[in-house]
Parts: sequence; C-alpha cells; structure tokens
Amino acid sequence: MSKKILSENFDNPDAYKLAVYEKLGGYRSLEKLFKTDPASVIEDVKNSGLRGRGGAGFSAGMKWGFVPKDTDKPKYLCVNADEGEPGTFKDRKIMVQDPHKLIEGIIICSYAVGIGTAYIYVRGEYVTPINRLQGAIDEAYASGYLGKNIRGSGFDLDVFIHRGAGAYICGEETGLIESIEGKKGQPRPKPPFPAVIGLFNCPTVVNNVETLSNLPFIINEGWEAYASLGTEKSKGTMLFSISGMVERPGVYEQEFGVNLWEFIENATGGVKGGRKLKGVVPGGSSSPILTAEEARNTILDYESIAAAGSMLGSGAIMVFSEDNCIVKALQVISRFYAHESCGQCPPCREGTYWIARVAERMEEGEGNPGDPDLILDVCPHLMGMTVCVLADALAMPAKSYVEKFRDEFDQHIKEKRCPYASSAASSVMG
Ligand SMILES: Cc1cc2nc3c(=O)[nH]c(=O)nc-3n(C[C@H](O)[C@H](O)[C@H](O)COP(=O)(O)O)c2cc1C
Repeated sequence: MSKKILSENFDNPDAYKLAVYEKLGGYRSLEKLFKTDPASVIEDVKNSGLRGRGGAGFSAGMKWGFVPKDTDKPKYLCVNADEGEPGTFKDRKIMVQDPHKLIEGIIICSYAVGIGTAYIYVRGEYVTPINRLQGAIDEAYASGYLGKNIRGSGFDLDVFIHRGAGAYICGEETGLIESIEGKKGQPRPKPPFPAVIGLFNCPTVVNNVETLSNLPFIINEGWEAYASLGTEKSKGTMLFSISGMVERPGVYEQEFGVNLWEFIENATGGVKGGRKLKGVVPGGSSSPILTAEEARNTILDYESIAAAGSMLGSGAIMVFSEDNCIVKALQVISRFYAHESCGQCPPCREGTYWIARVAERMEEGEGNPGDPDLILDVCPHLMGMTVCVLADALAMPAKSYVEKFRDEFDQHIKEKRCPYASSAASSVMG
C-alpha cells in the first residue's frame, strides 16, 4: 500500500465540508506556517523535492525562488485547474472531494512568496468542481482562513475562481495568464518567465492543483518526511488517472519507485477481460507510448520513464489492449491537437492539421504506402519550432506510434481498411 498524501480523504464523502476537514486535521499547518519565516518555507519546499504535477515536473520551491523579493508590484498565484490533457482527471478529484486541501496549499504558497491574490483557473465544463471550490472558498472566508489578517497572522489573501471556456491551450501557463487578462488564450514567448513578468505584467507563480495540495503535508510533517518518499530525484507520491482497457479505471495515488505495470495491475485489476496488453501511454496523450514489454520493465518515476523514451507528464495513464487500434489513436489525438492549436505558429497550425489528415486517410483505408514515413518526416518540423510545446505534444506520440507499431500502419495501407474496425473497443482515446 502506498502512502496517501493527496487521496487520504477521498473515501470520506463529507471531507469537502470545512467542519469535517478541520476534524481530519485540516488547516493545522497554518499555525506552524505563520510562525515560520517565508524564505524558510521556500527552502523547505525546495528541500522536499516536490516537483510540478501539471506536466513539466519542475521543482516547485525553485520556481517560487525565481519570484523577485524586492518589488513594488503585486504578486499573483495562478492555480492551474484547466486539466485539459486528454486522459487526465485527477485535479477534478481533489477539487470535488477535498477542496480545502487545495485552499490550504494556496495559503502556504502565497504566504511563502508574498502573494496577495490567487486565481484558480478552472475549465468551464467542471461545474461540480467549481461549485465545490466556491463553497469551500466561501466557508474559508467566513472562518477567517481567507481575507484580511488570516487567523490573526497579519497575512492577507484573496482567492477567486476564473472559469475557462474549454480551450486546451489555456492550460499552458502563459496562455492561461492571457486568458485571465481577458485576451485570446495564446501563449507568450519565454523568457521572460511568469515568475518575473506574469499576470498583469507582475511576478506570478503558476502551479497545478495537485502540486499545491501536497503543501499541507510538507508543512505538517516536515520536508524530510516528504523527501523520504519516492526515489532519489522523484520524491513523494503522485495521483494517477488511469483509463482505457483496464478493469477498474480511476484515480490512484502511488509513491514513486515501483514497477509501472505492477502498479497499474494491482490498482486496476489489469487489462479488461484478461486481454493481452498492447501498450501503455504513461503521461497523457502528449507522451510517447510504451510497448507492453517496456511498461513491464519500467520503474514509475520521472527519470525511468524518460529513460524508456516517454514522460510522466500529468500522470494520465492510458492502457491499450490487443483490441485497440494505434492508427485510430493517432487519428483521434491528431484531430484533437489540430483543433486545439491556437494558430499563432505556422509549424503547429499547419503541422498538426497535416498529421491529422494523413492519420485520417490511413484509418479510413485510403492511405498511401509512403504515409507512415511522411508522418516521421513531418514530426521533426513540429518539435522545438514554436512558442509553446503544443506541436511537440502531438509530434512526440505520433513518432512513437509509427516507430513502435509500424506493422499496424502498414497493414491498414495494404488491406485498405482498419483491421480493428469491428472491435467495439477499437479506440482507447475515441
Ligand atoms: C498545451 C499545454 C497544455 C497544458 N495544460 C495544463 C493543464 O491543463 N494543467 C496544468 O496544470 N498544466 C498544464 N500545462 C503545463 C503548464 O504550462 C505549467 O507547466 C504548469 O501549470 C505549471 O505548474 P506545476 O509546476 O505545478 O506543474 C500545459 C502545458 C501545455 C504546453
């Protein structure tokens, strides 16, 4: 059994209520927090090894350390609750089941960095999470956990929810900032990074919901307790959204360092109906696929998954069985990325669209013999060429699908049809 930091209250249906959360030990960290110098809190979070859970896995404490200390400008926190990566549904679970844990984390981060205003950017379709969060924010204000002079500490903090309108690109941190400012969600070139010039041109921390929700544990138990979990460079636990062809899809917390496939099998009961495992996407639709053999031989941590040629991303694991069609998966994800490209960079705007067209014709039985190589030719032109990495987020998995499952692509072209079309579960991502 893995240590539970984030999901400890998931089984309590009333944990979202302030009184219940307090009984479970909630907001306990604040007493200790307000007696600690903010700079020491940043140091503790750095030492804990906590890394961002939104996708990039960057050190949370280091990011906070980049925010200028001597500035007359206000500082902001943008909580990334856009959760747009296909396959990801773990932030939703925190916001619905344990919203006060996120608010407690927001207070800790804001105190450490000297932030007076936090915006939680939630995708608009997340109606239940938004309602739960707003209810928790209202309760927190009424009990003096938010607003002026929080619990007599002299520290002030306001928290607002900002609803997104359902664009994947608004999950990218600078697209998110543009969107809160009321503009079109188009990413900004970096540098400057948001820590220096962010929301309203002021220093801004952008952190994912799950990243922040780890903070109460780190303050309560100490950074050493957090750093003692996991592997050398991947500390703590992570929430994994597991979907696709498994017996029990869901959100599962796991300490880093176990075997990837053993974790999936133990948590979910394995491949649905005892079918054969074809592959595993370990970190959301943007991550390259691992073959069954690779998934069985890889350790679940950032470094091992990168060494296997993929990435942990947002922890969205998608399981493919022998019934799932890889060409169909490429058709589905390429259509998604082409649709979600914001259009400002030509390699992304044109490249995602071209990959989608080629994938579509292969899946429809109208592919040309050179099409798999055409995909491999196009991919390098999408990588590292654009303001943000949305184009890379299609090119990386596309390349891996073709390279690792070439036979399936060739079979579609030779037989002029999808050999999986009759299977009810031909697509994991459809
Ligand atoms: C196209 C795109 C979409 C993204 N969507 C999300 C998202 O939905 N949620 C999220 O937390 N991070 C998302 N990210 C990552 C953010 O840009 C950023 O790295 C993250 O919010 C930082 O928080 P963290 O350090 O706590 O992970 C996305 C990045 C890209 C390029």
